Amino acid sequence: MADDTHDHPWLESLRGQFVVFDGPDGSGKTTQFHRFTELAEAHGVRVCEVREPGGTAIGEQIRDLLLHYRDDEHGEMAPSCEMLLFMASRAQLIAERIRPALADGCLVLADRFISSTLAYQGTAGGTPIDDIVQVGQVALGQTWPDLVVVFDVDEATAAKRLNPLLDRMEQKGADYHQKVRQGYHDQAQRQPERYLVIDARAEEDVVFERLLEAMANKSRG
Ligand code: TYD
Repeated sequence: MADDTHDHPWLESLRGQFVVFDGPDGSGKTTQFHRFTELAEAHGVRVCEVREPGGTAIGEQIRDLLLHYRDDEHGEMAPSCEMLLFMASRAQLIAERIRPALADGCLVLADRFISSTLAYQGTAGGTPIDDIVQVGQVALGQTWPDLVVVFDVDEATAAKRLNPLLDRMEQKGADYHQKVRQGYHDQAQRQPERYLVIDARAEEDVVFERLLEAMANKSRG
């Protein structure tokens, strides 16, 4: 059982850092995200939580379009349009919330970020990774995450955790999701210093314990 009251002095080194929690749909990352925020705040670290797509007034409108647009009614959304909409939402989030919070010494904790675009639109969707990185340079400027934590699950475990009312992105099928998972693995392999992959197939407490251990080790360098 993970002990949330235990002392974790390493959490204090996260002030002014930018950390992303990411992973396939049904990975349980959002539960871990809120739990981690509580723990960091209990250690006196101010946390700015953001979620993608969305997190700003502009971003929430883009989110609505991305998650509820009906391809069957209005015609297919071009993959490049989809990628640019995710990135546009992100550009606003960085300008409006992430940069000011980092400048203020907060830990910025993001539920998804450019790592999602690389996995979903890139590896799974077929948009070239280099194109996404180039557009990412425009949207992010110097503000790239210090650490990306990937919650890794197999398709069967993920499917059991998902709400049966799936949104547009979640409806893309098992093959797409397998590629998404591969996309995260590829990123972690390309940049091992910036990524942590957590086996998220176990129950919540076990995954949280693994998360804390892995992050503590990372913070020790
Ligand atoms: P959301 O309901 O926020 O899902 P979750 O709780 O899993 O984060 O929906 C976000 C969906 O959008 C999710 O299926 C992943 C997808 N997505 C992309 O395809 N590309 C992106 O860049 C981002 C941020 C999300």
